[in-house]
Amino acid sequence: MPNVVIIGAQWGDEGKGKLVDLLTQDADVVVRFQGGNNAGHTLVVGGEKTVLHLIPAGILHPGKSCVIGNGVVADPEVLCLEIDRLKKRGFLADDGQLVLSFDAHVIMPWHKAIDVAREARAGAGKIGTTGRGIGPTYEDKVARRGLRIRDLLDEARLARKVKERLPGARDELRRLGAADELDEAAVVARYAELGRKVRPYARDAALWLHRAIQSGKSVLFEGAQGTLLDVDHGTYPFVTSSNTVAGNAACGSGIGPTAIDSVIGVTKAYSTRVGGGPYPSELTDATGERLRQVGGEFGATTGRPRRTGWLDALALRYAARVNGLDGLAVTKLDVLTGFPEVKIAVKYRAGGETFDEMPSDLETLERCEAIYETLPGWTENLDGMSRYQDLPANARAYLERLARLVGVKVMAVSVGADRERTIILENPFRK
Ligand code: IMP
Repeated sequence: MPNVVIIGAQWGDEGKGKLVDLLTQDADVVVRFQGGNNAGHTLVVGGEKTVLHLIPAGILHPGKSCVIGNGVVADPEVLCLEIDRLKKRGFLADDGQLVLSFDAHVIMPWHKAIDVAREARAGAGKIGTTGRGIGPTYEDKVARRGLRIRDLLDEARLARKVKERLPGARDELRRLGAADELDEAAVVARYAELGRKVRPYARDAALWLHRAIQSGKSVLFEGAQGTLLDVDHGTYPFVTSSNTVAGNAACGSGIGPTAIDSVIGVTKAYSTRVGGGPYPSELTDATGERLRQVGGEFGATTGRPRRTGWLDALALRYAARVNGLDGLAVTKLDVLTGFPEVKIAVKYRAGGETFDEMPSDLETLERCEAIYETLPGWTENLDGMSRYQDLPANARAYLERLARLVGVKVMAVSVGADRERTIILENPFRK
């Protein structure tokens, strides 16, 4: 059975959750392999809104398993809150549905405090992080001083690790001029309690996944954030702290890359970005405001207004390359309805120079402005259109031009928030 990776091809918030939720019908297992509760999926199922930050959206499907892999940084406060909320609504009736890797790193209170304090001091150069402690937790992971889920399950070990790490965290908070509200005994007691709550889900997730794949189960790997926020391949330093590209589906879950059969990149029909960093096709005018209002472009995690702009073919071609995309899923096409014309960035210009591909140097990228190709818009309401051929000719022409510019076929198109409002042209699980 095929194993498929779905990642964001832009700056995050592409509507991956909805596609994952839809394709979960054909998968047995959904895996998160990076990021943490900096991600947020707003799902509308049967008219009801559910926001999930950590647990894969696939949890809404009874009988499917969801894995939080070793590559994720997990805030156990958030995890327990999501578990409680899901259970209250009748989901996650079977604890066996959720698998939490022993090796996922834990977001501790000092990580959140350091993240917020750093951003407060950073001024103009700030990254615009979500303030969830993501960066500091990954730093501790790489510095080999992090706490993992397995450490929460043994109170004596937890107490020892907190004691070891706390002085360094306190020093950093002091340096940042932030209040130190950390009480060692209270932290140990709280995280031991959270450890007891997550114990039913904690296991060797890589082995569990290996066995699932061996037994013929189909796995969907759900990326968080987007390609241009990847710590190696994004617009560094305006990035998140994990690898968001498809290759990390293997590292972040403990399977080998040969187990992956296909990779789908999700893109909006336009573009958005949250936080700082270069964005050549950004619109700061009334058109950008209209995209924000019609598209409801306010962060699911932070509520921040998103920056908006036209679609960027250079960014998508780059995403196609670094992820090895087999297909594109284009979301929110309906948001473009009613624009007299729609544009796609096809080149950049900086000074006297033009670029056909995304420059890898941030300072060059910051100087770039987009050169657009303009296509005619459409006025038809896309609501209720369930077949590709139903779409207005101009909307199809837009999608076809996009596919040609990126060099990747369009496999799905979504035309509304509800999961039924998605046209699947080719299902990667039914090849
Ligand atoms: P962090 O992941 O909180 O450290 O934030 C680093 C950068 O990634 C900031 O620009 C955030 O706005 C951005 N970011 C993190 N998660 C998401 C997401 O899920 N969608 C969009 N942007 C995100």
